[in-house]
Amino acid sequence: METNRKFSTGTTMILSIESSCDDSSIAITKIENNKLIFHKKISQEKEHACYGGVVPELASRLHAIDLPNILEETKPYLNSLKAVAVTNQPGLGVTLLEGIAMAKTIAVNKNIPLIPVHHLKGHIYSLFIEKEQILPLLVLLISGGHTQIIRVENLEKMTILATSIDDSVGESFDKTAKMMGLGYPGGPLIEKLAINGDENRFELPIPLRNSKLIAFSLSGLKNAVRLTIESLGGAEAMTEKDRADLSASFQKAVKLHLLQKSKKLFAQESIKDFAIVGGASANLYIRSAYEKLCKEFQKTLHTAPLEFCSDNAAMIGRYAIEAYKKKLFINPYEIDLVHTKKRQSGTLL
Ligand code: KG4
Ligand code: ZN
Repeated sequence: METNRKFSTGTTMILSIESSCDDSSIAITKIENNKLIFHKKISQEKEHACYGGVVPELASRLHAIDLPNILEETKPYLNSLKAVAVTNQPGLGVTLLEGIAMAKTIAVNKNIPLIPVHHLKGHIYSLFIEKEQILPLLVLLISGGHTQIIRVENLEKMTILATSIDDSVGESFDKTAKMMGLGYPGGPLIEKLAINGDENRFELPIPLRNSKLIAFSLSGLKNAVRLTIESLGGAEAMTEKDRADLSASFQKAVKLHLLQKSKKLFAQESIKDFAIVGGASANLYIRSAYEKLCKEFQKTLHTAPLEFCSDNAAMIGRYAIEAYKKKLFINPYEIDLVHTKKRQSGTLL
C-alpha cells in the first residue's frame, strides 16, 4: 500500500465499499496501476460471536456506525475520485443497503459514476489486487454463503460449472463449531483445533462420493458430525482431544469431497490456471491439498493473500477498475436490491 501523501490532480481513483455481511470495509484504488492506496475493514465477529452467527439487524446497525467512521479517513483522496463502487448483491438485504446508500450519496454528490459489484466477482478479483488479471481461469469459491466452481472467461462472462445443493463450505465449518460450542466464525477455530487432532479417528461420510454429479453437498456431513457429538455424550461432555479429533476428521472429509469433485472437473476443463477464493480459502490444510492436486494435473494454483480471502473492499475496488474501463455503470437512482430485470441464465454469475 502506498503511504498517505498529496496526490496530483491527474491521479484517478475509485472508492469501493463492502457491507454484504458482517465486515464494514472501504478501499481506495488507483485506476492506472491497480495500486491499493487505502484499505480498512472493521469486522463485527466479536459482536456476533455470542449468537453463534450473524444477526442481520445488529450487523446493519454496526455498518451504520462503522462505515461513516472509515469514510472519514478517506478525506485526503475524495477529490481524486473518478468513480464509486459498491457490493450490491448477493448478501444480507439490510446490510447491503448501508453500503449502497453511502455509495449513492457519494456518486450523486460528486457527480461521478456508480459501479455495482457482484460480491462473488469481487472475491474472484481478490486474486488480482495490485496485479494484472489472469484469464481464462477456473475458480473454486468457498465462502460462508457459496460453494461453486466457476469458469471465468472475462469480466462479464463467468459460468458456474458446479455448485452446492445445500450448505456452503464456510457454513459447514461454522455449524460444526457451533455444535461443539466453539464460537463464531467456525472456520479458523476448527482449522486451529484440527492441527493437533487425529483426522482418522472418526469415519465421517464423504458427501456424494458415489454420485457422478459434479456438485457439492455439506448438509449430510453436518448431520454426521451432530450424531458423532451425540455419541460422545453431547458438546459439554467432549474432551479437548475429542474436539481436536472431530475437527480434524471433519476437515478431512470436506477436503476429500472438494478434491473428488474438482478432479472430475479438471478432467473436463483444459484451462491451466486454477484458483481458490473466499473466506474458507484461507484454510492452509485445504490450500496445501490443492497444491498437490494442481501439480498432479499440471495446473497453476493461484490464491489471494490471507488478509484478502474474507470479505473486504479492496477486492471490490479491483473488480471496479476493470468495470470502470468498460463503463459498466448504473444510474444511482436505479441501483436497488430488488432485481426487476430477468436474469440471463441460472448458470451465469
Ligand atoms: O468470504 P467470507 O468472508 O464471507 C462470505 O462471503 O460468506 O467467508 C466467511 C466464511 C465463514 O463461514 C468462515 O468460517 C469461513 O469463511 N472461514 C474459514 C476459514 N476462515 C474463514 N473456513 C475454513 N477455514 C478457515 N481458515
Ligand atoms: Zn464473501
